[in-house]
Amino acid sequence: MSVETSARPARPQRNLPLRRLLPMVVRAPLEGLAEVAREARGEIVRLDVGPFRPYLLSHPDHLQQALRGDWTSYLRKGMFWKPIERLLGDSVIGEGPGWADSRKVLQPLFTSRYVSSLTADMAATIDEGLDELTPGVTIDAMEEMNRIVTRAVISVLFGDRISPRDAEVLGPAYATANTSFGFRIALPFVPDRVPLPGDRKFMGARQVIDDVIYPLIRQARTEKSDGPDIISALVRARDGEGRELTDVKLRDDLASIYGAAAETTAVALTWLWPILHDHPEVAAKLYAEIDEVTGDGPVDARTLPKLRYLTMVLREMLRLYPSGWAMPRMVVRTREIGGVTIRAGSQVLISPYVTHRLDDFWPDPLAFRPERFDPHTEQRRSRYVYLPFGAGPHQCLGQHLFYIEAPLLIAGLLKRFRPELVTEGPFPVQPAGTLRSRKKIEMILRPVKK
Ligand code: HEM
Repeated sequence: MSVETSARPARPQRNLPLRRLLPMVVRAPLEGLAEVAREARGEIVRLDVGPFRPYLLSHPDHLQQALRGDWTSYLRKGMFWKPIERLLGDSVIGEGPGWADSRKVLQPLFTSRYVSSLTADMAATIDEGLDELTPGVTIDAMEEMNRIVTRAVISVLFGDRISPRDAEVLGPAYATANTSFGFRIALPFVPDRVPLPGDRKFMGARQVIDDVIYPLIRQARTEKSDGPDIISALVRARDGEGRELTDVKLRDDLASIYGAAAETTAVALTWLWPILHDHPEVAAKLYAEIDEVTGDGPVDARTLPKLRYLTMVLREMLRLYPSGWAMPRMVVRTREIGGVTIRAGSQVLISPYVTHRLDDFWPDPLAFRPERFDPHTEQRRSRYVYLPFGAGPHQCLGQHLFYIEAPLLIAGLLKRFRPELVTEGPFPVQPAGTLRSRKKIEMILRPVKK
């Protein structure tokens, strides 16, 4: 891989010292990318990787242009999105009219007010998940976060309709699908009808997802429930012409929301444990707040808004570890951005991980400091400097859900246990679909002494 900066025309072309950058990028690709963007001070960088040579956009002004101002020129199309479309259909994770229809129907179901109405159910489901944690033994943090988050997401989506067996097969089916389309990404010009390695596994996983979701849609249609769960709400929803949504549309959107909601949240929360281990002063402040706010009572709709330090910790955690680390786009019209001409058909990469580490906007960017998000002292910053949930018309629908689900889980867990990390850091990131740790994060939970 080689890297070249496209400087603004007013300045001479600047080449970054490749000898220094290459080993860095090979050893730790994402940390390397962040370093490249820092060196370039947010200027546009062309990455000489593979046949696509994507442009890395990191400056907030450029992000504003690509994600908001001129977003119809930077579309979710091309090599990264094709396999996703194959799995999730023409849905809210796509682009074009199918995406716009989904977004219109789904948006009202993810407002702060609507999601708040789900808090009591979500708290009960998360409590059940926390009850199953075993203290005193080594546990895999990602596995446990995933188990509890998945349960919560499934209850928000499907209410209590789904059997435990079906709930259990969904996660592994997504994992199989997500890890089986490497060849399709590497060879995007090969038509779908020509078989490639991984296809059979991919299709099998897609079938499992269909076999779980379609019967739930049929059941929800028969029940005509007025419940708040998303599947009931989608059965009640009508399109712009007053028609019911088709089964295929419901399947595609439910599958998409599950895919967007479960792993991103679980991966994000897994990073909290090494953070608390490395910052005992943050951990102590967090424990004190949770004790003071909740006392002997539960974590619930009344206490959640008072957990202000926990919110600051979560926001800073998403700055350093934004689990939705990649927003790839294809430029569909030749565009000038940051003084650089980007031709139609080029690939562009936007990554909150990279932008959140620019030292022109974040003093001492690698330090974990929840105080950056203290509402009393928080400095005004551009909307596009901090974007763990994306920005513009494709901004994440799940942000409010995250800020209910995550504090319920974390405060609930810390009321019962103190985590003790077993694995030694550092924990390098592994940039896959989400931002996982390359090393397993293991810990032991010690019951809180009353
Ligand atoms: C830590 C948790 C999460 C993170 C970091 C995250 C991040 C993101 C990001 C960066 C995008 C923008 C993608 C793009 O522009 O291409 C996005 C979109 C989306 N997210 Fe999330 N997300 C999280 C949780 C959730 C949850 C809980 C839901 C559940 C509803 C959800 C549903 C969606 C949907 C439906 C979209 C597509 C929106 C559209 O294109 O119109 N996400 N998310």
